[in-house]
Amino acid sequence: MTMYLRRRASFSAGFQQPPPGETGRGHDYLVEMTVGGVVDANTGMVINIRDVDAVLKGQVIRPLQGCLLDADIPQFRDTLPTPENLVLFLWDRCREALPAEGRLARMTLWPTAALKAELSQIPIPLKSLEVDPPMLTVTRTYDFSASHRLHSAALSDSENAEIFGKCNWENGHGHNYEVEVTLAGVPDPATGRLWDAACLDQAVKEQVLDPYDHKHLNYDTADFCTLNPTSENLTQVIWANLSRRLSREDLGKARLYRVAVRETARNYFEYYGEDAETTEEAL
Ligand code: NI
Repeated sequence: MTMYLRRRASFSAGFQQPPPGETGRGHDYLVEMTVGGVVDANTGMVINIRDVDAVLKGQVIRPLQGCLLDADIPQFRDTLPTPENLVLFLWDRCREALPAEGRLARMTLWPTAALKAELSQIPIPLKSLEVDPPMLTVTRTYDFSASHRLHSAALSDSENAEIFGKCNWENGHGHNYEVEVTLAGVPDPATGRLWDAACLDQAVKEQVLDPYDHKHLNYDTADFCTLNPTSENLTQVIWANLSRRLSREDLGKARLYRVAVRETARNYFEYYGEDAETTEEAL
C-alpha cells in the first residue's frame, strides 16, 4: 500500500538574462516534493521527514538560494531556466538523493502563485476509466484540532526518542489538522451533484470530527490507543473508517477517491486506497 507525503521548501533565485516569457529578474520559488513509499509497521512512517528535509536543503535550497540561475548553475548556462527546465533539474537531483525507502513521485514548482510546473509519476487509477474522462472530483475540506504523541510500542524508548525526536515527548503536542475528502464519479442527473454534500458532512462528522476533535489521539480514541498516530496512520484510518461508513450509503455513481491530511502548513499526506495499488501493478 503506497502512501504519498509532501514536503515544501522555498528559495529565491534570479537571472542574468530573463528567459523568454519572463519579465522580471527572478522569483521567490515554492517547491513541493511528493515522496511515495510503504508505511513501516514499526515506525508508522514512510520515511523520516528529516531525511526529506535534508534532500530539499542539500539539493534545492543550498545550491539555488540567492543565485543567478543562468550564471551560477552549470546546467543553465546552455539550458534556459524556465519553470519546466527547473522542475526537470530538481527531479533528477532529488530522485538520486532520496533514501531507498522513499521514491520521488512528484515534483511541483511554483515560480508564482498563479503558475505551476509539475513532473509526476503518480498513476491515475484505472478505475477512473469506468467513468468518462476527464475524471470529475469534488473535494471538501474539514478541520479539527487534536494532540498526539508519536510513539511506537514496537520500538524501545530510546529508539522512539531517536526516531521521533520532540514528537515523542510524553505529554504530546497539538496540531490543527485539515482533512480533504475527495469523491469521484459522475453527477446524478436529477441533482447535478456527485453526492449530497450534507450526507458527506454527516459521515465525516461521525467518523472524524466527533471522535478526534479536541481529543488526545493516543489516550482518547479507540483508533490510536495502540496504533502510532503518525499522519500516515491517521490518513489510512480516516480512509478506512469513511470507506466503511460510506459503503452503507447509496453513493450512486460516486465513490471515495482520496483522503488527504495536512498536519502543518509544510506537511501533507494523501491516500487513494488499496484499489490504486492493484492499478499500479496493472500499469
Ligand atoms: Ni505532531
